[in-house]
Amino acid sequence: MNYQWYPGHMTKAMRMMQEDIKLIDLVIEVCDARIPLASKNPDIDRLANGKSRLILLNKSDLADDQVNDAWVKYYKEKGFGCILVDSRKSVGFKNIKSAVLTACSAKIERDRKRGILNRPLRAMVCGIPNVGKSTFINSYAKKACTKTGDKPGVTKGKQWIRLDKTLELLDTPGVLWPKFEDEQVGLHLAMTGSINDEILQKDELAVSIIKFMKESYKGRLADRYNINEELEDFDILSDISKNRGCLIKGGEVDVIKGSKLLTDDFRSGKLGRISLERP
Ligand code: G4P
Repeated sequence: MNYQWYPGHMTKAMRMMQEDIKLIDLVIEVCDARIPLASKNPDIDRLANGKSRLILLNKSDLADDQVNDAWVKYYKEKGFGCILVDSRKSVGFKNIKSAVLTACSAKIERDRKRGILNRPLRAMVCGIPNVGKSTFINSYAKKACTKTGDKPGVTKGKQWIRLDKTLELLDTPGVLWPKFEDEQVGLHLAMTGSINDEILQKDELAVSIIKFMKESYKGRLADRYNINEELEDFDILSDISKNRGCLIKGGEVDVIKGSKLLTDDFRSGKLGRISLERP
């Protein structure tokens, strides 16, 4: 299956970010806790070279607790600030401010020595499509501003969001990169929903999900769909479709509809908390 998806608007967005990076003290990269490697954009590493860094492992509610903790340790050992968040429920938000201050401590100290006090830190928030970046920015801005009594200020033109006197966020569009170095990366991005579904083979994707679930979370498919996990992957897909009433006129099984149902269940956590990658 072809996973490459790098439409023109991403090239344009990346160019814009290269311009804006000059104004930035800190890069906050929103990643998907289920795929902390595949959701980390190598182009952002190049862009953010020399800047302070903070990784937010978002959708942590959809990934395994223990694996989440292992990933935080992994990225901290690599020198990144790293926090688990669930942006829908604002989980982890209380740790962000201090992580930002820690990541920018050298810059704050430099400013202080020059007599510059209370200059707001400017953070660029970036991430791949569908990682939950908008959800994060909206709920974090709301939380930060209810606390300070401020209103998030949005500057016209650029997507600057002023949270309070100490922190401003620059929102950026979701971007991928031109070529995935490894097919597994493309597959994981497709499985979790960061690649436009229009370019994907829905049944092939569903079969990949079945294969992964059988290997890594044995019994969960059987529990939810009342199927036999010993069968061939495509037969399992067919049975899931049948058991869930995905039928075409005449009673034939609608495997594409079943594929969509399974993929949605997988992505939304209905098959339980799932980590596709482990450090
Ligand atoms: P983006 O800006 O990075 O493209 O992502 P966006 O915020 O639009 O979020 C994409 C989907 O991920 C949304 O679901 C959103 O609710 C969900 N989401 C964001 N953060 C989290 C999180 O921490 N945990 C969980 N479980 N979900 C999260 P959707 O179904 O596409 O939209 P909606 O039905 O929620 O409106």
